[in-house]
Amino acid sequence: MKIEDIYALIEKDMEQVNTCIKSKLSSEVVLINQVGQYIVHSGGKRLRPVLHLLTANAFQYKGTQHIECASLIEFIHTATLLHDDVVDASELRRGQDTANAVFGNEASVLVGDFLYSRAFQMMVEIDQMRIMDILANATNTIAEGEVQQLLNVHDPDTTEARYLQVIHDKTAKLFESATQLAAVLSQQAETVEKAIADYGMHLGTAFQLIDDVLDYSHSSDEIGKNIGDDLAEGKPTLPLIFTMRNGTPEQNNLMRDVIEHGGRERFDEVKQILTDVGAIAYTEQTARSEADKAIECLSVLPDTIYKEALHALAEFSVNRTY
Ligand code: IPE
Ligand code: IPE
Ligand code: MG
Ligand code: MG
Ligand code: MG
Repeated sequence: MKIEDIYALIEKDMEQVNTCIKSKLSSEVVLINQVGQYIVHSGGKRLRPVLHLLTANAFQYKGTQHIECASLIEFIHTATLLHDDVVDASELRRGQDTANAVFGNEASVLVGDFLYSRAFQMMVEIDQMRIMDILANATNTIAEGEVQQLLNVHDPDTTEARYLQVIHDKTAKLFESATQLAAVLSQQAETVEKAIADYGMHLGTAFQLIDDVLDYSHSSDEIGKNIGDDLAEGKPTLPLIFTMRNGTPEQNNLMRDVIEHGGRERFDEVKQILTDVGAIAYTEQTARSEADKAIECLSVLPDTIYKEALHALAEFSVNRTY
């Protein structure tokens, strides 16, 4: 199943999500509308809402709260992106200048806060303590992941285990919530809820592993973000960690040096080494194995077209080029 076919399956639901997003985005404060619309309408993949909607359909959910739920999950995601681009000093997202580049860091941080708190207002409207519980924990975990990553920056002794904890917290957790919440809304048994939450978590882990590979890919145009941002900030991502473990002493020294000092000057040299020592391949294999684990979790679902789509999305998370 192709990615277009997946979007087509939930087209009607997605239209309602977009309407909900549009109406909940509005504020009397002009700058909030400007920044909010700038980022929300810049064309992200909407992957987390897509996962939530597909899962709700796979469970034959008959209510309407999946629309609000999908929308508020995208709000949380968008808030993390506004904050993340400030922290990472990034200038390109979704093929256009980042909000911080256009409106400044202050506006990005504050509008990110607006989106976060709007998401919590929407949760209260849904009025289910389990949903509040899952999302309050998820947002807290995301913040912990981003702060832990900040501590790992410029530290070449960051281990693979510490790296994996960071990507679990900052990224996989929200994917996990997106699928788990669909199980909660449709009142699935505990074992089923756990399995579909794990599916989201493994898929999200694969997704971030590939994101870290794409930061060393050939073109900013395709990913819509500047390549080399992780290197510029001295981020010890898995390709670099693998190289320090398996490269020659010279390669190890170079990795330590670029993590400690950051910068873009040695990007081409670093990128070549990551390919030569098999660090890119290793990171891709790690993502592959996470996607396989995600797919295994799908066995709790009845055989439907939505299950097929969820399977295809796990494949997309490893094979994606944007
Ligand atoms: C970007 O997420 C942040 C990561 C977790 C890597 P996406 O790649 O899903 O961003 P958009 O919403 O499609 O732009
Ligand atoms: C994702 O990590 C961070 C969030 C969960 C917001 P990145 O910092 O790698 O995401 P991109 O590459 O900027 O999208
Ligand atoms: Mg970033
Ligand atoms: Mg970041
Ligand atoms: Mg990235």
